[in-house]
Amino acid sequence: MKVSVKVPATSANLGPGFDSLGLALPIYNTITIEETVLPGTGIEINLMKEDDALDEMSFENIPRDENNIVYKAVEMLYNSIGQEPSELKINIQSQIPITRGLGSSAAVIVGGLIAANKLLGSPADETALLSIATEVEGHPDNVAPAILGGFVMASQEDDGSIVYRKINWPEEWDITVCIPDFELSTNIARSVLPAQVPMTDAVFNAKHMAMLIHAIDTKDEKLMRVALQDKIHQPYREKLVPGMKEIMEAFKHEDGVLGCVLSGAGPSMLIISYKYDVDKIKSTVKSIWEGQSIKAEIKTLKIEQNGAEILDN
Ligand code: HSE
Repeated sequence: MKVSVKVPATSANLGPGFDSLGLALPIYNTITIEETVLPGTGIEINLMKEDDALDEMSFENIPRDENNIVYKAVEMLYNSIGQEPSELKINIQSQIPITRGLGSSAAVIVGGLIAANKLLGSPADETALLSIATEVEGHPDNVAPAILGGFVMASQEDDGSIVYRKINWPEEWDITVCIPDFELSTNIARSVLPAQVPMTDAVFNAKHMAMLIHAIDTKDEKLMRVALQDKIHQPYREKLVPGMKEIMEAFKHEDGVLGCVLSGAGPSMLIISYKYDVDKIKSTVKSIWEGQSIKAEIKTLKIEQNGAEILDN
């Protein structure tokens, strides 16, 4: 038996919502898991890249054995019901660029878990799958929208439980995703963050997070323009993303551009706009990055409302 699952890319944080907000985007990975019939064949992991637009050196370095994150997630699911994974063939068809802040690891973790759960007769519910996915990924802000689609707030509470809700996102807002041709690992992007932040910065983020949720919920573009600001992760990551500061500066005073943020841990950038010429956004970002010899893929998308989906094989 084999099961395939299509999972969307995700963009986490959205400025002030560090480690707790994320949205799904219409770029997909498809994960297929097959229980092989021949005992003793072990696991086999195959990766196929669908899009060669960006050179991805790290693609070759992804483990093809028990250290692969998909296998780790699947193993945790089996263990949670007192079983060990048998011989498994895992195929990953990847459209989501890796190490760009677009949730490629969350997508494969979620896809692997949902496929394995189906193979096992669906013993785990959505919350249990989200819990395992968060444990493997480290934070819930990519895995939650990868499972649910749309815009999601998710928090891992001190007792380990995950609290999450899908929140309506205004369909008419455009999301321009700017993906530069260099990689930034989440580990490096997290290593530059301080263990503690000043109280004034924590309060700044709490205020803007409240504004952000209200702006999205009530489609308040004016409030959204104030809300998309952060002081606890983006300023520290600026040095890792050439051009980030200039790109943010370029749109600060443009009516119609609701905000510009780092996508997840970066280096991709997300620009949210409403009734604004998106070609102007593209040419501005392109010229700033070209000035630093950085090539980029830039596309304007709508939010993906559907989360991970089991495909008919
Ligand atoms: N919230 C995470 C971070 C997302 O900013 O480090 C990375 O996947």
